[in-house]
Amino acid sequence: MKFFLDTANIDNIKLAYSMGVICGVTTNPSIIAKEGRDFKEVISEITSIVDGPISGEVKATTVDAEGMIKEGREIAALHKNIVIKIPTTIEGLKACKVLSSEGIKTNMTLIFNLPQALLAARAGATYVSPFIGRIEDISMSGMQLIKDIADVFKIHQINTKIISASVRNANHVIECSKAGADIATIPFELIEQMMKHPLTQQGIEKFQKDYLDAVIK
Ligand code: G3P
Repeated sequence: MKFFLDTANIDNIKLAYSMGVICGVTTNPSIIAKEGRDFKEVISEITSIVDGPISGEVKATTVDAEGMIKEGREIAALHKNIVIKIPTTIEGLKACKVLSSEGIKTNMTLIFNLPQALLAARAGATYVSPFIGRIEDISMSGMQLIKDIADVFKIHQINTKIISASVRNANHVIECSKAGADIATIPFELIEQMMKHPLTQQGIEKFQKDYLDAVIK
């Protein structure tokens, strides 16, 4: 399973990319708003840092297919690695079909069930983004959703890639990797959480002590 970083924070993107652990970035309107910067400017800056798929979403207030197509074309023109993120609505499917037929990569977002994922794939989506955390917020299984999509895509040889989104903890990462997600898009803080293990830290301290004791002798 690959990792994308789910942020528009440039410092965090630079740091995670320098670790070699992420190969793409996803954003959404809330993430962009948090940075308080111009959308196209920040997306362009991200493409200059990460050589991989960068998802930029159509405006949250654009709900018609024509508007999404127009914006999608404009955003895609910024860089060859741009992926157009589109909400999974009927209008979104129409936009996905047109943009995909023009060779523009698409990421259908806010997916909460298998039928939505299947329809997005039929419309030509490059990626589908099921939201694990948010579906668990309403007491449903995020992992069953990932597993169902992964199993059915495999049965029908569907090439659309599954991005586990709304990933909030290390257990989500463990479970969605086992359930068959192609990618997990994660917040930066989760990388730190995933790397923490008390025995790693204790081990480092013991090695340092033993090394220093031996050198001093
Ligand atoms: O990838 C989608 C993500 O940004 C949403 O996360 O925690 O707001 O559900 P969350």
